Amino acid sequence: MTLPRHLAVIMDGNGRWASRRRRPRMIGHRAGARAVNLCIDHCLERGIGALTLFAFSSENWGRPEDEVGALMKLFMGAMEREVEELDRRGVRVRFIGDRSRFSPALQARMASTEARTAQHRRLSLNIAVSYGGRQDIAAAARSLAEDVAAGRLQPEQIDETLLGSRIALADQPPPDLFIRTGGDLRISNFLLWQLAYTELWFTDTLWPDLDASILDQALDAFAARERRFGLTGAQVTPDPAQADTDTHIA
Ligand code: FPP
Repeated sequence: MTLPRHLAVIMDGNGRWASRRRRPRMIGHRAGARAVNLCIDHCLERGIGALTLFAFSSENWGRPEDEVGALMKLFMGAMEREVEELDRRGVRVRFIGDRSRFSPALQARMASTEARTAQHRRLSLNIAVSYGGRQDIAAAARSLAEDVAAGRLQPEQIDETLLGSRIALADQPPPDLFIRTGGDLRISNFLLWQLAYTELWFTDTLWPDLDASILDQALDAFAARERRFGLTGAQVTPDPAQADTDTHIA
């Protein structure tokens, strides 16, 4: 069965999970943290090499102050609690996004978690915090513009490969599979550049209700997809009898 090398996930539905139980939203986020562990376990068991989780968007700063503050505490606590186990299991942790907006204590914790796990290769766990896809592309464009202004780069040298090399996660294969829980059918400013040819899979299941069978459903659906990357079915399927001879675009 073909497995994704890189899985990207929007973990949505924590708030609704809590509301349905008449509990504060934060209870949903705490239950969401347990589902994060389950998702990491599943990637380790199945041999998926990279997992990128959208934990906090650049737009999430606009949520009520008490929710933002409680989420920060949850991230801090999760890092303190989990770093040893992640280290033991060969997980390399990295954070993408504008971390300058976090408290110095949280920034220091992110840096020490990255440093402690930097040598691992079994699973790359990328946590997107204060992340936005447009912000990611704008930062890459700014870095190229700085090189042009300094005379290190000519504008005509700028192409997709060069811009792609300045984008977050440039050293990893782009996500093969994107999963969004919680029922909404949107990308919500996640990895806009990196998702260009990613297979998308959505489920109504709320993030805290995630279980191994949901992840297996997504992996099975992925394995059954024909990825054409703009080519025709006949070009990408070795057996012409099975080829989809349509000429539609993707
Ligand atoms: C979206 O659900 C979820 C978030 C904004 C926070 C995600 C955080 C976690 C899963 C907790 C732990 C994460 C780590 C990396 C330790 P929502 O609040 O938008 O839910 P709703 O759409 O039902 O309101």
